[in-house]
Parts: sequence; structure tokens; C-alpha cells
Amino acid sequence: MSAPRDDVEVDVATIGEDVRLLEGMRTTRAIRRLRPDPVPRELIRKVCEAATYAPSGGNRQPWSFIAVTDAAGRAFVAERYRRAADDYFGVLREKLADPDFPETRKRNLRSALYLGDHLHEVPVHLFVAGWMRRGAPQVQALFPAVQNLLLACRAVGLGASLTTLHRHFGAEIDAFLGLPPERPTCALLPVGWPLGRYGTPPRRPVDEVLHWDRFEGGVETPGA
Ligand SMILES: Cc1cc2nc3c(=O)[nH]c(=O)nc-3n(C[C@H](O)[C@H](O)[C@H](O)COP(=O)(O)O)c2cc1C
Repeated sequence: MSAPRDDVEVDVATIGEDVRLLEGMRTTRAIRRLRPDPVPRELIRKVCEAATYAPSGGNRQPWSFIAVTDAAGRAFVAERYRRAADDYFGVLREKLADPDFPETRKRNLRSALYLGDHLHEVPVHLFVAGWMRRGAPQVQALFPAVQNLLLACRAVGLGASLTTLHRHFGAEIDAFLGLPPERPTCALLPVGWPLGRYGTPPRRPVDEVLHWDRFEGGVETPGA
């Protein structure tokens, strides 16, 4: 699916409604290369509405979605995200020249580094936050909604990816967003029209990870 052109109106009511569920799941991958063009607010509202159908403990629905679109706010977030990404992925940069480092991991690393360098240009920084329970963040109650967001973006043709590195500056960014300490963010989805295309991401075959009745496997942790 290619992104709508700037001069083409998006029909928010119908866009994405025809994407089959399993096909959408199989072709939702991290899209980190995004165009700077604005995204209609109604479309962000539509993907957030899809997210609200996620399950949560006791159906408490602890989520809040904060869509940052103003340039100064995005610059504030991006400056911190870049520092966190440099700390986290920077040490891996030399792996890009290592012939033994798998190509799929190189592609993923390049794309993660690209996002770190370009987050300020991404038109929507979509944060997911949720209230704490018994003194702890309820991230397990928020990630089903996060996955719904990713799938909904796939359906309507918006590029998105799941990131958490902003948490390195979590308290500062949450305060900037106006969130009280009892309602921390857990994820940041950079959202925009994709430069690339959706497609099947590299994954281990299901028969390597599906076990019947009893786990039959070793103690190795691939990629750990
Ligand atoms: C809990 C979690 C946190 C993640 N945090 C980041 C992040 O901070 N930055 C980033 O670029 N990708 C992040 N990712 C995205 C993964 O790196 C991505 O899903 C993985 O690269 C697979 O990409 P693919 O679906 O295109 O194959 C995160 C994924 C998960 C599940």
C-alpha cells in the first residue's frame, strides 16, 4: 500500500476498513522511515479508537493517548530520544561493517538508528500512558492497546513502530506532556505516512516456537 499523496483527501470513514485481520497481522512490521507531511487528526483519532477495543484487567481501560504534533514538542522528545538511542544502539554501529552480523539484524539496526536521527521530523509522536495500580505501572494492561495501534496504523496505511527508549528520560518527558507521576508513559509510536512499504517481517517459523502439551526445547535464548 503506498501513502496517499498530499493533494489527495483521505476518506477517514472508509480507509483501512477492507484490510483482512490475519493479512494485516502478518504484514505489520516496524516502519521507521516516514514522511514529514502532516497526518489528519481524524485519522489519529481513528487508530486510537481501534486501540480502545483492547482488553485490560477488569476492563479498567487505564490508557491515555497523547499525540504530540507541534514542532517544539517533537524537538524536545526527539533530542532526548536521540541521546537514548545513541547510548543503546550506538555501540552496535560497528556491527554494520561486520560480515558475520546477520543481514536482517543489520537492516533492523540501520532502521533503528535512522529513527534516532530523524524523530524530530516525524509528524506525530503518539504516546501511550496509563495509570499505576498498587504502586506499579500497569504496562501489561497497555501493550494490547499498543499492538492494536500498530495494527490500525497498518490498516489505514500509516507507518508506525513500537519504541520505548524515551523511558530513559521518562520522568522528564512525562512531565513535559503534562502527565502526573501516577500516569507514566510506556510507549512512543512515531507515526506518519511511510516512505517504505509494509511487508512480511522476518520471523522464526511457527513450528520452532509452538509446542504441544510440553515444552520440548533447550535452554538457549536466541538473540539474547
Ligand atoms: C517492548 C519493545 C520495545 C521496543 N523499543 C524500541 C525502541 O525503543 N526503538 C526502536 O527503534 N525499536 C523498538 N522496538 C521495536 C523492535 O525493535 C521491532 O519490533 C523489531 O525491530 C522488529 O521489527 P520488525 O517488526 O520490522 O521485524 C521495541 C519493541 C518492543 C516489543
